[in-house]
Amino acid sequence: MKGIILAGGAGSRLYPLTLVASKQLQPVYDKPMVYYPLSTLLEQGVADIALISTPQDLPRFKQLLGSGERFGVTFTYIEQPKPEGIAQAFILAEQFIDNEPVSLILGDNLFSGGESTIRAAYQTFKGGARLFAYPVDDAQRYGVLSFEPDGKLSKIVEKPSIPPSRYAVPGLYLYDSSVVQRAKALQPSKRGELEITDLNNTYITEGLAQVLFFERGFAWLDAGTSTSLHDASAYVQTIERRQGIKLGCPEEAAFRAGLLSTEKFSQELEKIPRSEYRDYLERILLHHPKRT
Ligand code: DAU
Repeated sequence: MKGIILAGGAGSRLYPLTLVASKQLQPVYDKPMVYYPLSTLLEQGVADIALISTPQDLPRFKQLLGSGERFGVTFTYIEQPKPEGIAQAFILAEQFIDNEPVSLILGDNLFSGGESTIRAAYQTFKGGARLFAYPVDDAQRYGVLSFEPDGKLSKIVEKPSIPPSRYAVPGLYLYDSSVVQRAKALQPSKRGELEITDLNNTYITEGLAQVLFFERGFAWLDAGTSTSLHDASAYVQTIERRQGIKLGCPEEAAFRAGLLSTEKFSQELEKIPRSEYRDYLERILLHHPKRT
């Protein structure tokens, strides 16, 4: 399955932080924000990844991530001239998708914890759409699941003033190749965007969407506002210091997923300047069984 990281948008909610660097390049504790969604895709073995961003920010992402070779993957960079909606990603990436299944992750979404739900979603994907659900206290900020009285999923409502449930839809979505034609058929919403929620509702209406509920203890954070950015940093710091592991470390994710051999991982490591980050990766190399 191919992967898309959507890392554009105006970033206006983080002003003035976003005057010179986009939201997804801001630090979440000790790494750029985009490292976290990138690691989520790499953990699933996604090796063909498109990153979509604004014409101003795309060169900085290229500088940060390069060709993908150091993670054992290929990156394709695609411009989104204007922030005209999350679902526009599939129209912009039509050539990249090339009639294959594709997963989209939002560049400001961070997933951490027991990854079994995400793994199961990728491994058993057979078509249609796979969406996730996560209970939150502030559902009005998100796309929210609405259910029939018998518990059947009826639709998703985008940022409802009165949420129909506590279940928000996180920014990680898996689709079959029909997603491109579906995105093309959407009409812009009142705020002038091609809405991911409208796209998802086409699958739900046709009975082609499956929702997976994240297990207890799983953490989903979105770092789109100053407060949630700070919360995300605090969360990462707490876990990293307590457990001596790193979250959102793409080199590690690629190595563990088998995208990098032990030799290549060790070569790439040599290129990293002496830092806490490198010390950590050296520990991973030392303790991991050799892989060719
Ligand atoms: O975080 C999950 C939520 O993301 C979902 O529950 C909602 O259904 C979905 O609409 C979205 O809501 P947000 O209000 O968080 O979307 P936002 O406009 O902040 O965009 C999310 C990310 O996508 C952000 O990193 C910027 C990027 N983006 C957004 C748009 C509209 C683009 O790159 N291009 C765009 O045109």
